[in-house]
Amino acid sequence: MKFWRTARTDRRSRTALPSPPSGPPVEGEVLLETVGLTKAYAGADGELPVLSGIDLRVRSGEIVALLGRSGSGKSTLLRCLAGLIPPSSGTVAYRGVPLTGANPGTAMVFQTFALLPWLTVQQNVELGLEARGMDPDRRAEAAVQAIDLIGLDGFESAYPKELSGGMRQRVGFARALVVEPDVLMMDEPFSALDVLTAENLRGELLELWESGQFPTRAMVLVTHNIEEAVLMADRIVVLGARPYGTLRETVDIDLARPRDRDAPAFDELVDRMYRIMTGRPKDTRQPGRPGSGHPDRRTVATTPLPPASVDGLSGLAEMIARRGGRFDLADLADELGLDVDDLLPQVDALDLLGFAEVRGDDLMLTGTGEAFADADVQLSKEIFAPAALEVPLIRLITHSLRGQPEEGLRDGFFRDLLAHHFTSEQVDQQLETATDWGRYAELYSYDAGRREYRLDEGAAFLD
Ligand SMILES: Nc1ncnc2c1ncn2[C@@H]1O[C@H](COP(=O)(O)OP(=O)(O)O)[C@@H](O)[C@H]1O
Ligand SMILES: [Mg+2]
Repeated sequence: MKFWRTARTDRRSRTALPSPPSGPPVEGEVLLETVGLTKAYAGADGELPVLSGIDLRVRSGEIVALLGRSGSGKSTLLRCLAGLIPPSSGTVAYRGVPLTGANPGTAMVFQTFALLPWLTVQQNVELGLEARGMDPDRRAEAAVQAIDLIGLDGFESAYPKELSGGMRQRVGFARALVVEPDVLMMDEPFSALDVLTAENLRGELLELWESGQFPTRAMVLVTHNIEEAVLMADRIVVLGARPYGTLRETVDIDLARPRDRDAPAFDELVDRMYRIMTGRPKDTRQPGRPGSGHPDRRTVATTPLPPASVDGLSGLAEMIARRGGRFDLADLADELGLDVDDLLPQVDALDLLGFAEVRGDDLMLTGTGEAFADADVQLSKEIFAPAALEVPLIRLITHSLRGQPEEGLRDGFFRDLLAHHFTSEQVDQQLETATDWGRYAELYSYDAGRREYRLDEGAAFLD
């Protein structure tokens, strides 16, 4: 925090940014609003929905976090709100006026900083103003003020490559803040930074926000990090990704600021967010099998394979077994120094295979899961194979191959089928998982050279 304090003292003796409101901005006014927003990207088989039916409001005075797993459509939603891409249907409005292009009330901070390496800090910060047609003198002055506010003074003439990651992201912030946007949009702004730098920058940003010296009225933060969302947001909007991005739940975070990560109330909220993110949408829940939905109702379209290798999911199963078959997810992630994105695919995989269930805050091994965790390699394959066959895509591949026991099938066949429901990136990822799981289960083999699946001997009779 030291850097920020220096900057603040400095700024008092110089000029502050134009007319900062005293105290935090007034609450209430709707700044951004989406109604029935849908976004689809082109897939092999026409348009594939990524977001559906999004009704969202961002009001003056609040920090809204968009929380969701990788691929849930957070960045897409943020870009729609910023007017960088148009929605496929529905509307996005800024102060009640529907957008027809870039949103004039927003500025964006990116995860990857997106600085121009051949420009100095000062020039990078001035870029946004240049685009808005401000004359050079006023531009320079405004840039100096933004640089000062964010703790970058002294670095004006440095080039990005001379700066640490944290300093580079400060340039990202200064460049966005210099245009004094009503809403500051941030797309995982801390996730490319090391842990300590990220924590420091979050703290500084919140101090500035709370001090009321911030030239913005609201902030929208995209993150996959639950603790970051609970630390920063007044409201967390959870995007669910099954089968495509919808608003799963909105949670108000009423903790007083500055927030104490060690407070029990903070922990409770983190646990609650974990529950929401690991749970399934209510309509697929079944009594007795809370996690996975009834196997008979699962289809390839509704049951995407998570990006989890057999080694990864086995490792997690063993860890839970060693802890007595049940474990608090938040604690486990914490202990391993992982983000939620790192752990959820393995959790999903165990759940999909019927090896574990999410119960409350805990991940619990089922009887089969315990047997799997305890088994030696050969036995674990025997347990894995029938469980994998209950997974729609693995089942589809195996059954299709049974129709061609001699010839095998090109992966293009499955790609085309999946393309009806998923983007090409998702198809790649799922086939990678299906290949790994199917090989391990000895259901089929895959020849990467010929891009061909072939039935494994023995798999013909397994079911
Ligand atoms: N330009 C694009 N063209 C096609 N598919 C895209 C494009 N951008 C994102 N996607 C797909 O849309 C889904 C949501 O992506 P994104 O909004 O980046 O999610 P998140 O930010 O939550 O990780 C992903 O499956 C991704 O592959
Ligand atoms: Mg993203």
